[in-house]
Amino acid sequence: MRIDILTIFPEIFDGPFNMSMLKRAQEKGIAELHLHNIRDYSTDKQKSVDDYAFGGGAGMVMMIQPIEDVILKLKSERNYDEIIYMTPDANVWNQKMANQLSMTDNIIILCGHYKGVDQRIRDHYITREVSIGDYVLTGGELAAAVVVDSIVRLIPGVLSDETSALTDSHQDGLLSPPVYTRPSDYNGWKVPEVLLSGNTRLVEEWREDKAIELTKKIRPDLL
Ligand code: ADE
Repeated sequence: MRIDILTIFPEIFDGPFNMSMLKRAQEKGIAELHLHNIRDYSTDKQKSVDDYAFGGGAGMVMMIQPIEDVILKLKSERNYDEIIYMTPDANVWNQKMANQLSMTDNIIILCGHYKGVDQRIRDHYITREVSIGDYVLTGGELAAAVVVDSIVRLIPGVLSDETSALTDSHQDGLLSPPVYTRPSDYNGWKVPEVLLSGNTRLVEEWREDKAIELTKKIRPDLL
């Protein structure tokens, strides 16, 4: 899978993309992550990427020209399944969307800044708008990193068996049950007996019961 990210701050991705799972996915050739600095495409003398909002009001708006130029260049090179715009005024990202997008080949993610992008980019190029929650970040970059991480870890071959995504919270619509490791008794804090029983069926039943109990308590909206 290939993901092209359009941003005015490519450096923000240095950390998340060069560590751990996202790094491994790229090294294995399973995911290609490409960063494009929108400013490099500005035809303006000052390399501006934003301008005042028509109608007045505080805050700048990201201009069409440099964004359109990057999108057109990328689209001339390959077909894209989705062109996603990161913005707080959109549907909130969830595991189902991550599953869907992990099955695509090529996507573009546009990171907004200031008051956002000129609406005409949204009207004419964007196929999906994504928020990562009902709060406002300084820009779309951190949100894009969250979305990329949640997609790439689902591509077959990225996670090893031990870290399989199948038992993640949200994967089956429930929160995950509690987990424990050695020692089985830590100064009197004991691991539930059933997990030490070696009875796989009972362990599975316990995990499912706990998952339902936790979901009812913490996120009843998921049920
Ligand atoms: N840009 C600013 N805030 C955001 C959010 N909550 N989700 C996605 N993109 C954003």
